[in-house]
Amino acid sequence: MNDKTVPTYAYLKHPVTGEICVYPGDFEQKHCESALQYKAKPNDVFVCSYSKCGTTWLQNIIWLILHKGEQIRGDIRKQIPMLEFDGDEKLNQIDDSKFPRVVKTHFKLKWVPQHPKAKYIYITRNPKDAMVSYYYHCKGFVSHFDCEDLDFNKLFDLYVKGDVEFWGYFDHVTEWYQKRNETNVLFLLYEDLKVDPKGEILKIAEFLGKNYFESLLVENGKLLQQVIQDSSFSVMQTASAELISLPRPKSLPFIRKGVIGDWNNHLSSEQSKIMEELIKEKGDPSGWSSLWDKHENVWSI
Ligand code: A3P
Repeated sequence: MNDKTVPTYAYLKHPVTGEICVYPGDFEQKHCESALQYKAKPNDVFVCSYSKCGTTWLQNIIWLILHKGEQIRGDIRKQIPMLEFDGDEKLNQIDDSKFPRVVKTHFKLKWVPQHPKAKYIYITRNPKDAMVSYYYHCKGFVSHFDCEDLDFNKLFDLYVKGDVEFWGYFDHVTEWYQKRNETNVLFLLYEDLKVDPKGEILKIAEFLGKNYFESLLVENGKLLQQVIQDSSFSVMQTASAELISLPRPKSLPFIRKGVIGDWNNHLSSEQSKIMEELIKEKGDPSGWSSLWDKHENVWSI
């Protein structure tokens, strides 16, 4: 019988290299293989992240910008498929003649289909908050992870070792950070989006194309205001069960708390220290460990 105090994962194999990708437990080899067959198209927009770093928020913003304020109706995955779960066939079913295809993925850089003209928007978040959010993620999706008695401390230990889904947080962010200056990559921080949604939304629109940027500003920034409003935490939390329609307890909405520093309510001082050492060890060589220096409230207790 599975240990219900930790998430159950599926270890799926790259069909060519044999490399392993760790998926939530209820996925199968066919999901991984189909995902790897997808060929990126020139006007695709990839929303890339490690789990729980603000992916859904970013997806919603991108959608609102591309669709001139028209909201996503129903489950977000119907409009923005997830590469590793939905795979090649579903992605190719999307008609991209009017609007670019938007693809969500938690795959590491090497596994994400590349096209020199496609756009890649990566979002990350301080790993202490991302870990806490991941705990509630697993608690909310017990059927995926088969972990009814999930234990926070055990999950923490797995998280810092990288023994969690999609190769873990630390290597994921390192690889994408090194690519941040390429012209078709935009590297974003959850915390920047929290502090300055207007500035970050404009930055995203500019990256998507001059016409999108300009259309946000016409009529005194009417569309910009609409995008800010419709991607706000309160609006998204109200729509949470509709956006992510997989069954979850009502008390644990997917759009859960949306704050900076919730780790203070969960990590022990020892766990906090372990994270800090890891951030230094993994993030100092490439420089991503200083990403949050400008946000005093991220590390403050
Ligand atoms: P919390 O669990 O800390 O609340 P992902 O989409 O990558 O799984 O990330 C989910 C996290 O982003 C959750 O964090 C969720 O609440 C937060 N989030 C989603 N939409 C948000 C918004 N509009 N504003 C702030 N945070 C948001």
